[in-house]
Amino acid sequence: MTGNTQALLDETKELLVNTYATQPIVLERGEGCYVYDIDGKKYLDFAAGIAVASLGHAAPVMLKALQEQASQLMVAPPSFVTKAKVNCARLLVDNSCFDQIFFTNSGTEAVEACIKTVRKWAYDNKSKECSDIISFHKSFHGRSYGAGSLTEKRHTQPYFAPYVPGVHFAEFNDLESVRKLVTPNVCAVFIEPVQGEGGIHAATPEFMQGLRKICDENKIILVFDEIQTGVGRTGKMFAYNHMGMEPDMAAFAKGMGGGFPIGAMAAKKEFAQALTVGSHGSTYAGNPLATAVAAAVLTEITSPGFVENVARTGAYFRSKLEDLQRRSNKITDVRGLGLMIGIDTTVDIKKLPRALQDNGLLATQAGEATLRLTPPLIVTEAQVDEAVAIIEKTLKELS
Ligand SMILES: Cc1ncc(COP(=O)(O)O)c(C=O)c1O
Repeated sequence: MTGNTQALLDETKELLVNTYATQPIVLERGEGCYVYDIDGKKYLDFAAGIAVASLGHAAPVMLKALQEQASQLMVAPPSFVTKAKVNCARLLVDNSCFDQIFFTNSGTEAVEACIKTVRKWAYDNKSKECSDIISFHKSFHGRSYGAGSLTEKRHTQPYFAPYVPGVHFAEFNDLESVRKLVTPNVCAVFIEPVQGEGGIHAATPEFMQGLRKICDENKIILVFDEIQTGVGRTGKMFAYNHMGMEPDMAAFAKGMGGGFPIGAMAAKKEFAQALTVGSHGSTYAGNPLATAVAAAVLTEITSPGFVENVARTGAYFRSKLEDLQRRSNKITDVRGLGLMIGIDTTVDIKKLPRALQDNGLLATQAGEATLRLTPPLIVTEAQVDEAVAIIEKTLKELS
């Protein structure tokens, strides 16, 4: 570690609120699937900003959109129309089952917009008491009071209470546990089609189809949190495309901006129209710069063959990890969808991401014991081989 790195780590400790287990390197630049620290060390980036850098680092299409839009118009009040905003909304609508978009700055804010929309719709169309929400154990929807209240973690963070009332937790992939929670006061079910922070657990299509049926029978709005799974990550445009059904609404963020902070609530018209003038808003909602970059990302990801390639590379990655599992007694499970992959190992998860990092691979922890691998969607098979070799070497080094 050079003096520079140490000095910046010391200043981080001094100046920044200590909410993260700070990594002992300082990242400086990225290109494609690689990032470099200030000492010039190269890392294969299978964290991708936690499933964000969908087109990799310094993607030329993103730089072009960013530069062009920045030189034209960087900001406009949200009540004004811009080409970038309309273009981005058009791309989301034309490539999904949804009719209308509300832009946000993050995933959490997209979830907040969804919570407000379902409650307003139920208030207008069912009853004033109909405001309860069903969420799931091991879920993650964000850290604000609304999104945080739908998140399992609230159970381990009692010091932030009181949370938003009326939230009930069912078991993931268990229809009976959902049925037990349905009452006339439930307005919505929020679910991640593949639980990300909870440890990479995919819902089964049968479960999602059953959930759709329960929601239809009880006039409950079904909201998918596709913040981590959406926009190509799972090898289809959205994870609901794997499930043989459609949700009523969804939240997007992360990969949609490819690294530029943006999120969106997407909804079928009936539900979108519950929000009326003055009921919700945000200064940066639909910001020209953010929507121009997101439109460039969406154009790339919706281009012919892109998501099919993600599915192919994801399957290749899974098969290589399964081969490794057969060779190594330290991998106990390999799972996931597309390029959202989790592996469980016998080694201490507190040590694994750091040891991988020392060997030149960035990856993140998910859940209690899972290593999460979410490379840029442009990753090649050769880069997957490189990552698997680093994982194999690192597992051998750790007891
Ligand atoms: C499924 C899911 N929902 C919501 C969020 C929160 O998004 P953000 O961190 O952009 O606010 C995340 C972030 O990890 C997520 O994975």
